[in-house]
Amino acid sequence: MYKKIYLFYFFSTIFAFSCSKTLNPNVSGDSAYFPYGVASGDPSESSVILWTAIEADLGSNPEVEWTISSTENMKNVVSSGKMVRITEGAPYFKVKAFGLKSNTNYYYQFEYKKHRSPIGKTKTIGATDQLNIGVVSCSNFEAGYFNAYESLAKKDVDVILHLGDYIYEYGPGTYGDTTLQRKHIPAKEIITLEDYRLRYAQYRKDKSLQRVHQNHPFINIWDDHEISNNAYKSGAQNHQDDEGAYDVRAAAAKQAYAEWMPIDMNLEDPLYRSFSFGDFASLVMLDGRLEGRTEPVENGESTANQSMLGKEQLQWMKNQLSASKAKWKILGNQVIFSPMDLSRIYQQTHNMDAWDGYAEERNEIINYIATNDIQDVVIVSGDTHMSWGVEVPYHADSYPYTDESVAVEIGTPSISSSNLNERSPSEDVIVAERILKVSNPHLKYVDGRNHGYVILRLEKDQAFVDWYAVSNLKSQAFTERRVKRMMINREENNKLR
Ligand SMILES: [Fe+2]
Repeated sequence: MYKKIYLFYFFSTIFAFSCSKTLNPNVSGDSAYFPYGVASGDPSESSVILWTAIEADLGSNPEVEWTISSTENMKNVVSSGKMVRITEGAPYFKVKAFGLKSNTNYYYQFEYKKHRSPIGKTKTIGATDQLNIGVVSCSNFEAGYFNAYESLAKKDVDVILHLGDYIYEYGPGTYGDTTLQRKHIPAKEIITLEDYRLRYAQYRKDKSLQRVHQNHPFINIWDDHEISNNAYKSGAQNHQDDEGAYDVRAAAAKQAYAEWMPIDMNLEDPLYRSFSFGDFASLVMLDGRLEGRTEPVENGESTANQSMLGKEQLQWMKNQLSASKAKWKILGNQVIFSPMDLSRIYQQTHNMDAWDGYAEERNEIINYIATNDIQDVVIVSGDTHMSWGVEVPYHADSYPYTDESVAVEIGTPSISSSNLNERSPSEDVIVAERILKVSNPHLKYVDGRNHGYVILRLEKDQAFVDWYAVSNLKSQAFTERRVKRMMINREENNKLR
């Protein structure tokens, strides 16, 4: 069994204190002890999680200090204290910095044995009249350079949603670009806690990933590859009996995730959670993998027994939607929610790992949104390595002739994981995109050729969805461009223009 995770960082905040002290001017600016950089996440109106890991002989009781400041030079200290390890004996540190002002920029830094970390920038959330949300997913180290992270690191966003596939579990050379010097470590499929830790360590030594964490707070949710391909509660497509018990592997994957992500997470509690931006927006982050997902069924066999969320999470989500007084309700989701007829481009009519494999539960959610007249729901999804803009139909078969859409769904492309373009010539992909739109009248935009991210810009009466792409993954020299902008007007009942 794996060691219980100790969320000492909650207790460590007891020792946090407001003061006017500045960091010791005699310590070096050397960040060699902090080769994984710094990160922040799960912001609230008054707090944020700060994270670092240290590569040094830590001894039994390492004294790691954290400081958060309202100024970039770290002089105006708002709060500081000592950190305690997340897991006994392991070099990961988190703290929940309290007492912050809402919707405000902060800077933070760590110090160990007179070595200081790089300075990170973060932001609390809260009431606002405009919000820029970066949306990312599917960052396969072996598939290419993280140029999309590099690009997003420089963008003006309030927070970044990572919708999962932050790491991939495969051994080297099995899923990625074998021409690149980016082979997975350890050199095997990851299964044990130590395997998962080593894989995260490899990813987090990537400078582009470090920069995007250093510049922006993250809100993370896992998808399948943080555990194993096409994972569900009791198994995964890419988990075999000779790899040991699945629940032991899933527990190891969860623990490493908690250790490496700047996330307010207790292993005993569900990962689904919500965030409030006052009466402007609410964000509901769903766990469609480990919480309640049943095993996927064969194509065309989705039944009422199939569940993506599990009963408790489903009820919680409905309650969140009903209780929200916010203008915008954002659902952070992993796999594509909207019905998608693939029959004319694919051997299966539907992707049964997506919500199409859990259609009855999806219909229950659609009915709930419609019958309770819940307005301005935007679902953001990852997983597919493609870009999608969808008007979520009440009835897909007769859309748009019989009724309105109940929500808008935005699919973010992959940071690096292979898309259609890497498997087929561009001309063929363009034809496939057109066929998909003809087969699915509610699908307003699809792109299977680019890697990048989405910036969702919410305003009082409208929202803009910007899909950004990077020019290549094969080298760190790249250009970026905005491939597409679409608009959601709140008066128009879930239309994408
Ligand atoms: Fe993926």
